[in-house]
Amino acid sequence: MFQKYLSVITILMALLIGSFGVVSSSVAQTKGEVPGSALGIKSDSDLWRYVRTGNAGTSQMKDELAAVMIQSEGDNWRAFRNGPLSSYGAYGLAIIVALLVVFYAVRGRIKIEAGPSKEKILRFGTIDRFAHWLMAGSFVILGITGLNLLYGRYVFIPIFGKEGFATITAFGKLAHNYLAFAFMAGLGLSFVLWVRHNIPSKLDLKWLAMGGGIFVKGVHPPARKFNAGQKIIFWAVMIGGLSVSMSGIALMFPFQTSMFSETFAMLNLVGFNLPTDFTVLQEQQMNQLWHGIVSLALMTMIIAHIYIGSVGMEGALDAMNTGMVDRNWAKEHHNLWVEEEDQKASPKPAE
Ligand code: HEM
Repeated sequence: MFQKYLSVITILMALLIGSFGVVSSSVAQTKGEVPGSALGIKSDSDLWRYVRTGNAGTSQMKDELAAVMIQSEGDNWRAFRNGPLSSYGAYGLAIIVALLVVFYAVRGRIKIEAGPSKEKILRFGTIDRFAHWLMAGSFVILGITGLNLLYGRYVFIPIFGKEGFATITAFGKLAHNYLAFAFMAGLGLSFVLWVRHNIPSKLDLKWLAMGGGIFVKGVHPPARKFNAGQKIIFWAVMIGGLSVSMSGIALMFPFQTSMFSETFAMLNLVGFNLPTDFTVLQEQQMNQLWHGIVSLALMTMIIAHIYIGSVGMEGALDAMNTGMVDRNWAKEHHNLWVEEEDQKASPKPAE
């Protein structure tokens, strides 16, 4: 009997001590560091706000990204990619095509005004044409496969279904990755071959002031081997191409570059006030956006170049096809270059 009372008393004592413990531990919580599922003084919303704003915890994994549970900048990246980048990129491409259609309707094909001559003149040798087509061919495929990454799902999934789109995109990605190197080689070779003809000069201002003679018949501003319009294309392709190549390499070998923090740090030296402490993942996200922005801008410009180099101007394509252009075409569009070539062929005696 006594033993029965003793065990009841023991249980009551244990419960009492236990509840004291709970009370005393909840009183002692000051920093919210409570083991188990209790939150202490930290609310759910505080905890999730902390995680949601991209803060890093601790992790035993070697991957330095693993300590961040939610990388919130990813939201901004996705919103920009699927928002302004996709929509303005599409507007740019649509607008240039529309402008070219209007231009063609109004101006028609730019003809050789003096009519084709029987004489041809060498404009681009084999190596020039090889460099051009290496750069151009790879650029076109890179452009198409890149556009597929941005817009393909909207166009191809309704036609080929998800699996079909996945197959197209997997092959497209392979082509994109490997042809990038062909583009870089073509870009480098074209730079070496043509840079000396693309140094800006006073003549370019005159060419630009006369609208390149493109809009009005019978107007032919003087030009050497490359006119101001071509020089603009040359430098845009070189600088834009280099930038696209660098951001592309950074995307291909992820988490190894800090181009944006380094570039922003340099810009800060000349008066900007840009952030420079980006995580490797933020670097990747900015690389992706920059890669998209620059390549869409280049594509928009190159569509106009392709038009003028083919259907838009009689005789232009010969320069990159056989390399031999009609002499009258050359005299109308590059008169000073023709004079230089004639002088080289049969030098006049010095006066
Ligand atoms: C795919 C169709 C293309 C065609 C039909 C085409 C046509 C031409 C032609 C005919 C020329 C020589 C112009 C002249 O004799 O003065 C030329 C030059 C040039 N092309 Fe292309 N091209 C194409 C694509 C590209 C692409 C994709 C790029 C660059 C990514 C490019 C970059 C250049 C550059 C930098 C020049 C020298 C500067 C100039 O003439 O504008 N081309 N192209």
